[in-house]
Amino acid sequence: MTAERKTRWQTTCAPLSRARSRDPKLAQHPINPNAASRKAQSPLHTLRLSADIDGITRAATLLRDGALVAFPTETVYGLGADATSGTAVANVYAAKGRPAFNPLIVHVASITEAKRYALWSDAADRLATLWPGPLTLVLPQAAASPLASLTTAGLNSVALRIPAHPVARALLATFGGPLAAPSANLSGRISPTTAAHVTDGLTGRINAILDGGACTVGLESTIIGLTDPDGSATLLRPGGLPQNMIEDVLDAALKTPDQTNITAPGQLASHYAPNASLRLNAAEVDPGETLLGFGQAPNATLNLSPSANLSEAAANLFDHLHQLDATGAARIAVSPIPEHGLGQAINDRLRRAAAPRG
Ligand code: TXA
Ligand code: MG
Repeated sequence: MTAERKTRWQTTCAPLSRARSRDPKLAQHPINPNAASRKAQSPLHTLRLSADIDGITRAATLLRDGALVAFPTETVYGLGADATSGTAVANVYAAKGRPAFNPLIVHVASITEAKRYALWSDAADRLATLWPGPLTLVLPQAAASPLASLTTAGLNSVALRIPAHPVARALLATFGGPLAAPSANLSGRISPTTAAHVTDGLTGRINAILDGGACTVGLESTIIGLTDPDGSATLLRPGGLPQNMIEDVLDAALKTPDQTNITAPGQLASHYAPNASLRLNAAEVDPGETLLGFGQAPNATLNLSPSANLSEAAANLFDHLHQLDATGAARIAVSPIPEHGLGQAINDRLRRAAAPRG
């Protein structure tokens, strides 16, 4: 597991450096995940691409290079990133100014591809007949899934969707892999249903916008949870596909989640929590503790980012917590992480992981 995750991290880092060397626009405005949150940093040049073959090919190339591209789906515009690249996904959070890491929906081109990332079931088979469309299925993640852990916020499950919009489908086919895409708006703002909405919110923060006109559904996808061992299906988020259509296909009523403890999406009880107890802002390691470092931390067992790069730290966060858990560590001390840019989301996640458990 450790070796596999390390390899994944190394491979996911590569697109960024390739991006700088191959694309003059990116070389000029390197994809700096912290840039979006640092006022002094010059903004990215955001390309406006038409939804023709040239635009889609350009968008796919940018995505392969680790860039962020907003694209139309039938529900709302998504902010797409290579779902196997922890750094690209970290950039999504930075661009949106999200103060917390939520698991993202992974957009795929086909059911065959969906099966590479998830454990399939009879219920999934039935619901997949409603694809392509405004429906997202949350399934147990496949053991050999190549998705970055930040994409799923370290969960063992994964949210999958095949969008129906022809431009989204052409982009997925040309890109040839999974695209993580939350709605393409600044955190806390309304979801965008035109390219102009995306421009208003994200110009200067993302690499390109693929303009495919107005979204026809205009409401986010319906999310159905299929992770219950008893095979039941749960309505996690009402959306563009009506509940009765889903129940007809399943020939069963949907459950609704017990939401009494959920006050915001980022507080989903299902977020990954390590077995070990956590002590944050640890200047020193106490006896019996394992150090999860950030920046200079010679005693660290693992380091989120030896060079104190917040994007690298975000990309490593869930992997490193999993790895330290796997060592059987009982107490993890975490080096201080600055409370700006992605540091806010990293600290938010760490505070939740450190909170007393009931
Ligand atoms: O229509 C849509 O769904 C749009 C387009 C772009 O596809 N996307 C979208 O993404 O609305 P976002 O990030 O705004 O919402 C994703 C939702 C979040 O509420 C997140 O908590 C949930 O999906 N989600 C993702 N993975 C999950 C998982 N493994 N378990 C439970 N919920 C999950
Ligand atoms: Mg959203």
